[in-house]
Amino acid sequence: MTTVRLNSADPVSIDTDALIVGFRPGEDGPVPASGADSLDAAFDGKLAASLGAVGFSGKPGELAKLPAFGAIAAPLLVAVGLGDSPGPEDLRRAAGAAVRALAGTSRAVLALPAGTPGEAEAVVLGGLLGAYSYSRYRTNGEQKAPVAELTVVTGQSDEVAQRASVLAESVSLVRDLVNTPPSDLWPARFAELAEQAGGKAGLSVEVLDDKQLKDGGYGGIVGVGQGSVNPPRLVRLAYSHPEAAKTLAFVGKGITFDSGGLSLKPSASMDWMKSDMGGAAAVLGAVIGIARLGLPVNAVGYLCLAENLPSGTAQRPSDVIHSYSGKTVEVLDTDAEGRLVLMDGIARAAEDGPDLIVDVATLTGAQIVALGWRTAGVMSNDDAVRELVVEAAGEAGEGAWGMPLPEELRKGLDSPIADIANLQPERWGSMLAAGIFLKEFVPQGVRWAHIDMAGPAFNKGEPYGYIPKGGTGAFTRTLIGLAERHASI
Ligand code: BES
Ligand code: MN
Ligand code: ZN
Repeated sequence: MTTVRLNSADPVSIDTDALIVGFRPGEDGPVPASGADSLDAAFDGKLAASLGAVGFSGKPGELAKLPAFGAIAAPLLVAVGLGDSPGPEDLRRAAGAAVRALAGTSRAVLALPAGTPGEAEAVVLGGLLGAYSYSRYRTNGEQKAPVAELTVVTGQSDEVAQRASVLAESVSLVRDLVNTPPSDLWPARFAELAEQAGGKAGLSVEVLDDKQLKDGGYGGIVGVGQGSVNPPRLVRLAYSHPEAAKTLAFVGKGITFDSGGLSLKPSASMDWMKSDMGGAAAVLGAVIGIARLGLPVNAVGYLCLAENLPSGTAQRPSDVIHSYSGKTVEVLDTDAEGRLVLMDGIARAAEDGPDLIVDVATLTGAQIVALGWRTAGVMSNDDAVRELVVEAAGEAGEGAWGMPLPEELRKGLDSPIADIANLQPERWGSMLAAGIFLKEFVPQGVRWAHIDMAGPAFNKGEPYGYIPKGGTGAFTRTLIGLAERHASI
């Protein structure tokens, strides 16, 4: 794990392997941003011209490495573009991209704008998230190690670094879980890891095994899990604070592998379905983060864990299951399994009497069709709640967009024999239909939001900003942000 410390010294004189500085675009080339003020003089005023010569202008996303030729204490200067008037997300992205580009280097100093607590936290967080790497299965040593020691130049206090470290560690935990192959992460194993990590953070953790789930009437979780030799689990994590006035419940979809079940997916859609537990991982990371920050709020997390496989014991299309809520569901498509585990998790979470339930799930391919890879769909039974979630996501720099739950879509979920079917016959509006389905399991008067992050949970493309390839840790920080908004005082 990368260590981070704060330092208020002049960055040009800090002993390190690489100095990272920010620039914004100016009329005559890149202009050093605050934090890099002493740099121009150190390079005899020639820096802007040299950067211009390598095609660097200071726009967001730009990065240039220059040898320092002894002008500063570090042998390497890394210039990152910040654009005009950078906000926290610009700083997180620039810090993340620069630190990632320095993999293989042992020490780096970030001298980006960090005058306010918010800016300093963004720089620390972006740097730490950019230093993430997953090397558990590498045996050849070819992968470059992430930067080991980060120093952030700021006059802010250590508290800022503490907070950012807690957030980064939660996100890293989520990324690790999502990246873990399903051969090493099945429901019982996930539950064990949640017990360990949750216990360490002081949470009370309860795990229901397959027998308890059957006896307890969790027909959805049992039905989805029954095709696998690795039986399902439901994990409940609880954090409470003596001064809390509000209770939040988070429910995460935790399909450790989604083959589709008997409604088998085509191979090309299946190879990354280890990420179908990203919602449960985000819930785990968030509740741990909330506890470690000591937020004055109560938080309960539910991880709905099952492996969706075809076999002689798997559920069949046309099976009817008895959900935890008491409603019956006809399973028309076993690949629409996420909503089946979530319906039980949501109904169970409602028994805690929360002020708000938020479920997080890699729920539909239709989310990716509608909003692409980086923007999650947010649905709710309350307009203000939906706006609140979208706002919290915006603050965390996580793409999210409010989506409707049109009443007329409910009819498409009518079943000829059960209370509801898990699939609407037509493809159009499938993300919304899934939301409409879940809404049926939210008791009257309970505020609820649904985050469909099928795209954002897993980055199949190249890394960008502070987002690596593979598991992204999406929505962990948004959930923590929601808890902050519900904290008393
Ligand atoms: N886990 C998938 C959704 C998914 C797709 C997540 C792509 C991430 C990337 C989910 O269980 C699923 O299979 N959904 C089906 C639902 C359909 C059968 C109604 C889908 O979206 O095709
Ligand atoms: Mn599925
Ligand atoms: Zn799924």
